[in-house]
Amino acid sequence: MAHGKGQPVSIETINVPDPEPGEALVQVQTCGVCHTDLHYREGGINDDFPFLLGHEAAGVVEAVGPDVTDVAPGDFVILNWRAVCGQCRACRRGEPWYCFDTHNATQKMTLGDGTELSPALGIGAFADKTLVAAGQCTKVDPAARPAAAGLLGCGVMAGLGAAINTGGVGRGMSVAVIGCGGVGAGAVAGAALAGASRVIAVDLDDRKLEWARGLGATHTVNSKGIDPVEAIQQLTDGFGADVVIDAVGRPETWKQAFYARDLAGTVVLVGVPTPEMKLPDIPLIDVFGRGGALKSSWYGDCLPSRDFPMLVDLYRQGRLDLDAFVSEEIGLDDVEGAFDKMHRGDVLRSVVVLDGGAR
Ligand SMILES: NC(=O)c1ccc[n+]([C@@H]2O[C@H](COP(=O)([O-])OP(=O)(O)OC[C@H]3O[C@@H](n4cnc5c(N)ncnc54)[C@H](O)[C@@H]3O)[C@@H](O)[C@H]2O)c1
Ligand SMILES: [Zn+2]
Ligand SMILES: [Zn+2]
Repeated sequence: MAHGKGQPVSIETINVPDPEPGEALVQVQTCGVCHTDLHYREGGINDDFPFLLGHEAAGVVEAVGPDVTDVAPGDFVILNWRAVCGQCRACRRGEPWYCFDTHNATQKMTLGDGTELSPALGIGAFADKTLVAAGQCTKVDPAARPAAAGLLGCGVMAGLGAAINTGGVGRGMSVAVIGCGGVGAGAVAGAALAGASRVIAVDLDDRKLEWARGLGATHTVNSKGIDPVEAIQQLTDGFGADVVIDAVGRPETWKQAFYARDLAGTVVLVGVPTPEMKLPDIPLIDVFGRGGALKSSWYGDCLPSRDFPMLVDLYRQGRLDLDAFVSEEIGLDDVEGAFDKMHRGDVLRSVVVLDGGAR
């Protein structure tokens, strides 16, 4: 629980209502610690304290509301923050991965004194049980390790999807990924999975580059000492990469992505900038002259019902190493420690294991 701006998180007893129509009660097994949880704790998302943090979760459905038919008690599920509505402008035009009106549970979870909780991204899974919209539960192969599969619920999916869905990476293409934390490493893995022949990982930290190599990077660039644009051009016969993914989300990294791409190539922004950041100073003639596409990637443009079961199957077949993203398994009382490790860059993901989640 995060009670106020910058205050350390604490563990509390909460009330979780029984599911009503459209809702599901989930027994959480595991939940990854994401940068966004820290943003919530620091008041960077909004001021709706207290927050029930945690949103990269896998678990088992315990009960469902009377009208729920897509999932049933006993199903092994990954929680998502894109329960599509089917009615909005995006859904109606056949692009539900952009859904503008996604569903969350209607009822509120509360503290003992009745204070209503704000669940992070409508999930709130640093808890033994959580109440979500039934559409936020995506059923996947129950043989998958929860700590690994649950990471598809946010950051790793955002990265995989930035490459596969938003970037449209295909066989034989060249891809560069700037920033190789959980999201960027997911983009590296996604590019490799989609058949890219050159996958260039860029980071300031050699440990991240080593992990990226393990996930399919064919080349690595530490941009602390050298210009990543020149390095990417050199590694792509002087042309630049077909797709460059900015998984940091800063004006300078986006500018690098812009110039490190081949003519008519694609830039994908998946890192999230802060409100005060501005577009970098780029001559408009360069935007015109270089052509191609400048895109943003929300949650990897994923459709959970399509992407989660498919990616879990590829994981089970040994073609997508989700285990490599799990740097450590920790207890619920160690979330603050995990935030520190994330800050220092010691981990790709720390994953909280709740009672009954170990395998
Ligand atoms: N678009 C989405 O839907 C979505 C979903 C989840 C997270 N995100 C965002 O993605 C971003 C990355 O998340 P993460 O969990 O991987 O964070 P992280 O902190 O684990 O990783 C960031 C990485 O970028 C590297 N880095 C920082 N500055 C750099 C620079 N100038 N050049 C090269 N590398 C640099 C760091 O060394 C680190 O390895 C965050 O902004 C996060 O909010 C977006
Ligand atoms: Zn919709
Ligand atoms: Zn997240």
